[in-house]
Amino acid sequence: MERIAVLGSTGSIGTNGLDVIAKFPDRFKVCALSTNINIKLLKKQAKIFKPEAVCIAGSSSNLRGCNDYSGQNFASSRNGWVPGDFRKIKVYEGEDGLCRMLENLKIDTVLVGIVGSSALLPILTALDRVKKIALANKEALVMAGGIIMSKAVKNKVGVVPVDSEHSAIFQCIGSGNRKDLKKIFLTGSGGPLLNVKKSMFKNIQVKQAINHPRWKMGKKISVDSATMMNKGLEVIEAHWLFNIDISNIEILIHPEAVVHSMVEFRDGAILAQLGACDMRIPIQHALTHPDRFDSGIKSLEFSKIKNLSFYNPDFKKFPCIRLAYEAGKKAGTWPSVLNASNEEAVREFIEGRIKFIDIPMAVEKVLGLHKGVKNPGIEDILEADKWAKVKTKESFEYFSYCA
Ligand SMILES: NC(=O)c1ccc[n+]([C@@H]2O[C@H](COP(=O)([O-])OP(=O)(O)OC[C@H]3O[C@@H](n4cnc5c(N)ncnc54)[C@H](OP(=O)(O)O)[C@@H]3O)[C@@H](O)[C@H]2O)c1
Repeated sequence: MERIAVLGSTGSIGTNGLDVIAKFPDRFKVCALSTNINIKLLKKQAKIFKPEAVCIAGSSSNLRGCNDYSGQNFASSRNGWVPGDFRKIKVYEGEDGLCRMLENLKIDTVLVGIVGSSALLPILTALDRVKKIALANKEALVMAGGIIMSKAVKNKVGVVPVDSEHSAIFQCIGSGNRKDLKKIFLTGSGGPLLNVKKSMFKNIQVKQAINHPRWKMGKKISVDSATMMNKGLEVIEAHWLFNIDISNIEILIHPEAVVHSMVEFRDGAILAQLGACDMRIPIQHALTHPDRFDSGIKSLEFSKIKNLSFYNPDFKKFPCIRLAYEAGKKAGTWPSVLNASNEEAVREFIEGRIKFIDIPMAVEKVLGLHKGVKNPGIEDILEADKWAKVKTKESFEYFSYCA
């Protein structure tokens, strides 16, 4: 049995991941689960999958403000937290709880479905402990892709992408030799605002921004899809995963979302991976690779697909793409600042404190203030992340002053 930890099990990737894992009871044994604050769902999952440990990464102050926190099943003190229903399960808490949980368990594979920069330290810990990482989180790669990938090579840990585009690229590259790769065509549906006029962006509400036409995902990645920062982050993600120059990665808007990405080899052959918009396909691929099994997911009906269109994105309408290319090319601590500033701005937007159009403005302003470190270590990267989040908050005070 392959012992698997699902980090971020209460999110969109995590719940889809557990759906996939449940289909293979003879192959996978879930040994750990984690949430930020959704204790109610974590408890349900623990009842079904019977892990040896769970982690609640959210701080106790967060838990108090959370709807799922009834208090009745938990001891009063933070350290004495005991889930009444699952006394045999070891419960880890707090930001460092994820790392401690990974250090204390024997784990073969980790599915990383945590959103945001909080995944970075658990990924680095996992790289010292496990054989395989099925990686959905993109923010950690954007921040520290060089450090993650060289540690994976050094420790012989397989990093298999879950992000649908990167899963597609991974599968296409597998049909040739990596050294012959010339170019990546990174496709994207264009998100919920593709056909909305730029002049309307100042009125975009959270509900509209998270209403993705093709994929059902968590709120943060959905807003990133609306600003198209998601594609920008994916360019940097692909750069690190496949060791390819950023200028050889071209974004193609493909509203039908049938082709999940393509690669071109140096002989001119272009390979594409196609499939239904269902994250359980790339998740299953990452977990069972190199084996393939019946997923039970309905095949594409080609006779019903009338058209497949591809065109370049509008960099003026979606400035986050330009910002990501620029930060990715500058490298060093710039991608970490891009990511942190975006993360903070998206959080503020979701919580109703800023407008949609403030997101790219804040990211651009903070990137402009950054002095940067060329060859950063992990401390420099974490410092840049912290600095950018503070500067982003400050920039909102500046915007409201200007308004
Ligand atoms: N969803 C997709 O289809 C998709 C596709 C491609 C790539 N991805 C990438 O996969 C990652 C997860 O996306 P998602 O859509 O699944 O997000 P999501 O639905 O928001 O789920 C995120 C998970 O991480 C947990 N979490 C949140 N903040 C945390 C923190 N500070 N520390 C530890 N855990 C934390 C959440 O707990 P709570 O439940 O308590 O909030 C939840 O379990 C992102 O990096 C995203 O870009 C997602």
